[in-house]
Amino acid sequence: RIPMPVDIYGEQRKNSMGVNFSNEDDIRQLAEEINAHKGPWKAAPLVPGAKIGKETVKVTDPADHRRVVGEWIGGDESVVDTAIGNAVAAQPDWDRVPAEQRAQIAERAAEMIEAKRGEFVAMCVREAGKTLPDAIAEVREAADFCRYYAGMTRKLFGQPEDMPSPTGETNRLFLNGRGVFVCISPWNFPLAIFMGEVMAAVLSGNAVVAKPAEQTSLIGYAAVKLLHEAGVPEKVLQFIPGDGASVGATLTKDPRIAGVAFTGSTETAWAINKTLAARKGPIATLIAETGGQNAMIADSSALPEQLVKDVMASAFGSAGQRCSAARILFIQEDVADRVIEMLAGAIDELKVGDPGLLSTDVGPVIDHEALDGLQKHIDRMNREAKLIRKARLDETVTGHGTFLAPHAFEIPSLDMLEREEFGPILHVVRWKSGELDKVLAQINATGYGLTLGIHSRIDDTIAYVQKHARVGNCYANRNQVGAVVGVQPFGGEGLSGTGFKAGGPHYMLRFATERVLTVNT
Ligand code: SER
Repeated sequence: RIPMPVDIYGEQRKNSMGVNFSNEDDIRQLAEEINAHKGPWKAAPLVPGAKIGKETVKVTDPADHRRVVGEWIGGDESVVDTAIGNAVAAQPDWDRVPAEQRAQIAERAAEMIEAKRGEFVAMCVREAGKTLPDAIAEVREAADFCRYYAGMTRKLFGQPEDMPSPTGETNRLFLNGRGVFVCISPWNFPLAIFMGEVMAAVLSGNAVVAKPAEQTSLIGYAAVKLLHEAGVPEKVLQFIPGDGASVGATLTKDPRIAGVAFTGSTETAWAINKTLAARKGPIATLIAETGGQNAMIADSSALPEQLVKDVMASAFGSAGQRCSAARILFIQEDVADRVIEMLAGAIDELKVGDPGLLSTDVGPVIDHEALDGLQKHIDRMNREAKLIRKARLDETVTGHGTFLAPHAFEIPSLDMLEREEFGPILHVVRWKSGELDKVLAQINATGYGLTLGIHSRIDDTIAYVQKHARVGNCYANRNQVGAVVGVQPFGGEGLSGTGFKAGGPHYMLRFATERVLTVNT
């Protein structure tokens, strides 16, 4: 394990180990672990006492839709009703379980996730189309969330905070669970974000009903089974696969829920907010982590090789399917021609293909709907913008999957972009010396505020950009993806989400309610 610095609470915590891709023994062992798990996997609602339907949904591999990965059974209104009833009944007792005991369950879960690394990596590759390095990072992040929130559980919930107490009385501030939380998670981090949301909610003393993204129901099911085995009671954490329009909407309109933790699109976050506002019952908390229209700014002092490497990782890594991904590169015009030429050369080298092979740089996009939407944008860009480069696709490899060749286009300004395009498409805009403020104004005007990259060797420029950009995570002279739990608390502002940041010291506070006990002594 990599020792991490002592955090603000004085805790020494360790993040999980990676895989050394230059060590043949490590690779061989990982391959054996992965190959032992080929599916097919299954999922169904995990709701004690509910009547589960029979209709199944088939899951196919995004890299080759002829391959069936598994199948799942979704929930309906009656399953949701039973689940929320169970959760309401189970939550008060769970809230009284000592924080230490809850934290130990999370730490046990982290060990179990690492022990099951091979299966989770195999599922992330086959159900979500993740490349091997991304799938490994995903499993590590899931374990890291469990350990980090275990530590926070002890710190925040372990004992009440003593408040100033005048003579004759004591005042103590307690943190408790709010009640029943609905956790709705995305397909792009089907294990890590799923685990992060669920564990933060459960460890704060809430009962949870979790709905995974439909595309990655199998991984969500395996995660919940693991958490039950680790010691989370079955009525404290329940699981209902299904689509947002039916299961998601039924869950969020229920007057018995106290909050929703959601990661996904800004449009869906608005819709959930509206549903919560329209219902009776507790005034529900919404914790939303949504999209971004993320830029990277480079000035003429940037190191071109480093810049291009970081742009490639930020824009095309994970097939651009990260909310943190760079969508726009603002390049200072004095160096633009050279950087654009290098970028085109780097795109020529990209290997798009089977995510299960270590030689693959870019895997598939998640499904046909995503592919069609991205292709529409590319068609428009081909008409209205200047193509810098389109990566090669070998149809013999990609012909049966939802693959999209990474593209880079040059555009005159951000105004040409209508919305976040969630895939491997980069837009390049040239900016003139002395016009950094105009660049920052364009970025801020999008209303999003998730990640921003700045490449410059001038410290004052980095400081200036950080001060003027309204973004949650600003990265200088590196890529802008892959925030590490407990190290780079992650999340945005404005259209990008509500905060607090996932993997940060305040995240769990939003899942909690505060109670004060005043005793006249
Ligand atoms: N946390 C991820 C990243 O930093 C995105 O969700 O890339």
